[in-house]
Amino acid sequence: MPSSKVRLAAGIAAGISIAVFGSAALLAAPSDTITARQTNFKAMGQAMKGIVDEMKTPAPNMAVIRTNSDALARAAPHVVGGFPRGTGPEAGVKTQALPIIWTRLPEFHRDAAAMVTATRGLQAAARSGDIARVRVAFGATGGSCKACHDVFRLKE
Ligand code: HEC
Repeated sequence: MPSSKVRLAAGIAAGISIAVFGSAALLAAPSDTITARQTNFKAMGQAMKGIVDEMKTPAPNMAVIRTNSDALARAAPHVVGGFPRGTGPEAGVKTQALPIIWTRLPEFHRDAAAMVTATRGLQAAARSGDIARVRVAFGATGGSCKACHDVFRLKE
């Protein structure tokens, strides 16, 4: 094949794979998307608990705090992508996501971004090894979770 045709074929193949991957997210069943985001949140809750449990001890284990803050910082950026339209209560599966998420998206996105920033701060504090810094950063992170939950999550 002349090289121009090879390039064309490669370009078409790339276009197809973009189309396939781009639509995969849209085609995922809403219930799968909801389960995936809840699993991610559960991991975040576990990581927060792992940190607070250490902070309560007389000699907090920094390695444990670091591992959990790393897990939290890894999970946090996935939150915002877990809420495509059609994954609210209308999906017919159990979810605490309130419909106002999709009428107040800019605010929801701001809350998610603030939380990502807070988890990075907590990760940096854990890496510094300074428990006083960890406590402050943990408070800020917890506040960033609560800010969103107060508005956008159904209370149990
Ligand atoms: C931008 C908004 C937002 C932020 C920020 C946020 N959450 Fe949530 N969280 C939600 C929503 C909405 C749900 C309900 C999801 C569902 O049920 O589909 C939820 C659910 C949860 C759940 C319950 C999961 C389950 O189904 O058992 C946990 C645990 C949780 N969040 C922890 C956290 C922690 C920890 C943080 C902060 C580090 C955090 N969240 C930050 C919006 C947020």
